[in-house]
Amino acid sequence: MGDTTITTTTEPEIRKGLAGVYADYTAVSKVNAETNSLLYRGYPVQELAANCSFEQVAYLLWHGELPTATQLEELQHVERSFRSLDPEIKQVIDILPTSAHPMDVLRTAVSAIGALDPHADDSSVESNLAKSVQLLAQIPAVVAYDQRRRHGLDIIEPNDELSYAENFLYVTFGEVPDKVVVDAFNVSLILYAEHSFNASTFTARVITSTLSDLYSAVVGGIGALKGPLHGGANEAVMHIFDEIGTADKAADWLAGALAEKRKIMGFGHRVYKNGDSRVPTMKASLDTLVEYYQRPDLAELYDNLEEAMTGGKNIKPNLDYPSGPAYHLMGFDTPTFTPLFVAARITGWTAHIMEQLAANSLIRPLSAYNGVDERHLER
Ligand code: ACO
Repeated sequence: MGDTTITTTTEPEIRKGLAGVYADYTAVSKVNAETNSLLYRGYPVQELAANCSFEQVAYLLWHGELPTATQLEELQHVERSFRSLDPEIKQVIDILPTSAHPMDVLRTAVSAIGALDPHADDSSVESNLAKSVQLLAQIPAVVAYDQRRRHGLDIIEPNDELSYAENFLYVTFGEVPDKVVVDAFNVSLILYAEHSFNASTFTARVITSTLSDLYSAVVGGIGALKGPLHGGANEAVMHIFDEIGTADKAADWLAGALAEKRKIMGFGHRVYKNGDSRVPTMKASLDTLVEYYQRPDLAELYDNLEEAMTGGKNIKPNLDYPSGPAYHLMGFDTPTFTPLFVAARITGWTAHIMEQLAANSLIRPLSAYNGVDERHLER
């Protein structure tokens, strides 16, 4: 069936950027800007971050309930069994120049993983869950492979004795850091895991709504997340810190940037106008890392820029503001920050893909035409 033509005599209401539009229901998470809260399947994200492993939260997002000990063991067993990259995927990565942005490398690798999967078009829940766990396990391998090859370092094979967060750090840096670092990384993954109909999740749902496959939806999600108005902001925060240099220059730098009408990355949010519910939890983790790595200079720069931004335009930080410097302190390359966001958000994206499929309706909004009036070819 073709498009349904809707003729209307009244001017249609346009909501640019779909701001304030409810596109569908979701049971995966609830963002409440008024109460400044975020619930994953009913649980406050702060409680999950303080008490759970990222694997437990992944299970919760996919299945709707936290795992029992046996269910967690099963998930860990399967996730750990998928951690190594196939030689074909390594070849695909090796073809790409080391100058390629890690998000482009990751997008290409996920696309290749999908092309190699003979069950890519099987959209049953069982198959999509299996694909979700496989991607969860392989994204760290791709990210670490790429960071290490860019530095000319040997590739490290995964260790299936380690938790997800520990193994991610191990394959990237060659050792498991102290618990304080692992815990901060685990917290960041939980906070980044899910956030309702954000741009990348909505992209994944649009692709899924055409009955395309899970890999295509995830590749689209990665593309949407790369932009600096969305996930690319955590990387952009670090570029801003580099540009400012030292804490004493933050206020002047900000005045100049705002005079040039620049958007200050890591600040503002489409939904939260009174502060991002995830920031206090991530800021607490950043504080422990600042203490651990003895970097009060970084904390001072962070505070001064935030003070100048909230004091002036009263625009508050979003999650990318504390997570950018936290990933920097952990030792990740700046361009690797957004792929770390992917490693977490793969859980939310895939939960939404499965939810979309369970009650699908093609996502196809209308547009109001404002081009030239009807005209005809001169013959
Ligand atoms: N820097 C400077 N001004 C800002 C910023 C910012 N970061 N954010 C909002 N504003 C200003 C806008 O210029 C606008 O001012 P005006 O009314 O004088 O024109 C006003 O605040 C309202 O902002 P909008 O752009 O209308 O808000 P919107 O909801 O469309 O944008 C967005 C939200 C895209 C996140 C915006 O705040 C932004 O660009 N922030 C920087 C990028 C960023 O940090 N993105 C990460 C998002 S969170 C995440 O992905 C985890």
